[in-house]
Amino acid sequence: MAHPSPLSAQVPQRRLRDGSTIPGIGMGTFGSDRYGPAEVSAAVAGALRVGYRLIDCAAVYGNEDSIGEVLADAFAGGLPRDEVYVMSKVWNDSHAPVETVASVERSLRDLRLDHLDAVFVHWPFPNHHAPHAGTDARDPHARPYSHDAYMQTWGALEGLVERGLVRHLGSSNTTIPKLRLLLRDAHVLPSLNEMELHPTFQQGELFQVCLENHVQPVGYSPLGSPSRPERDRTPDDVVDTEHPAIQDAARRLGVHPALVCLKWAVARGQIPIPFAVKPEQYTANLHAVTEGPLLPAELEAIRSAERNSRLIKGQVFLWEGASSWLDLWDVDGTIPAWPERATT
Ligand SMILES: NC(=O)c1ccc[n+]([C@@H]2O[C@H](COP(=O)([O-])OP(=O)(O)OC[C@H]3O[C@@H](n4cnc5c(N)ncnc54)[C@H](OP(=O)(O)O)[C@@H]3O)[C@@H](O)[C@H]2O)c1
Repeated sequence: MAHPSPLSAQVPQRRLRDGSTIPGIGMGTFGSDRYGPAEVSAAVAGALRVGYRLIDCAAVYGNEDSIGEVLADAFAGGLPRDEVYVMSKVWNDSHAPVETVASVERSLRDLRLDHLDAVFVHWPFPNHHAPHAGTDARDPHARPYSHDAYMQTWGALEGLVERGLVRHLGSSNTTIPKLRLLLRDAHVLPSLNEMELHPTFQQGELFQVCLENHVQPVGYSPLGSPSRPERDRTPDDVVDTEHPAIQDAARRLGVHPALVCLKWAVARGQIPIPFAVKPEQYTANLHAVTEGPLLPAELEAIRSAERNSRLIKGQVFLWEGASSWLDLWDVDGTIPAWPERATT
């Protein structure tokens, strides 16, 4: 089927460090343990038809094979490959360099691509959990961040860039100290950083460090991830779409509050990657960034909606001896080490 989409031409573009461009909104593909590969890939097919040109994939989402069929059909139907920006991620169980290469090669095979536009290291830790894990699940081999180990993973990805299999590299779920180390030591610098970003969790300082270093922020869970897995829910979590600043703007524009979150995201300069399997949702999400911008006063009110409300806390990646999920996020500006090694 042909993919004529004047809407894709209206989507704002962001410029990356090498001068190339990337669409200013993308489609998420994590089914949140709720939506299977058939539903997600059908949504990707629909999203391409309505004009999305950026797809955020990951090996661990378990649906790259189905999405690959959709991409192959779309390209066979006349959609130029170079008009679609496809990203994937290396999961935490594939940080050993040989596994990193194998993971990206598997993603390329599954997605039926000869190159990926960007690849992220999904989390900075090799700690992982089984699919559908509960909140209390822990990897017995989990350990704190090791910069040497991370750079080995990154080095394997740099090799894939040299081979022409990957165009850009990105960090994900990182922090200012970890990103600074990466910027210091990488040969191929990160072009993108995928981070949780929504009105009540704006990560202002990390966002600024990204911009100052030509690292484009990609905002995940841009609607506040209302359908996230149970393991990522706590009673104190704030609901973005219920915030008065979001609701006021939604009322003025006559749209769902989710769309206000996206308008704010694009106006601020991050690339939101909302997930939706419902055609009316993903269509509205794309239109949100091409129509009816927010007023300066509304943007200012949303800037004040910040509540430091991290939703994807990462508890399941904690190591023995860690005190809380805050240890994953270097909240005092330092990167925790093993307790017994902290003084050496
Ligand atoms: N790098 C990482 O570690 C990481 C972590 C998390 C997510 N991500 C990426 O970010 C993407 C998006 O994050 P997310 O799925 O957590 O959260 P999200 O995009 O904030 O929320 C998605 C949910 O919002 C609802 N929704 C979507 N459009 C809507 C609309 N127009 N009106 C009302 N409700 C709407 C849908 O819920 P219902 O289906 O219930 O209607 C949908 O499942 C993921 O798919 C993934 O690609 C990356």
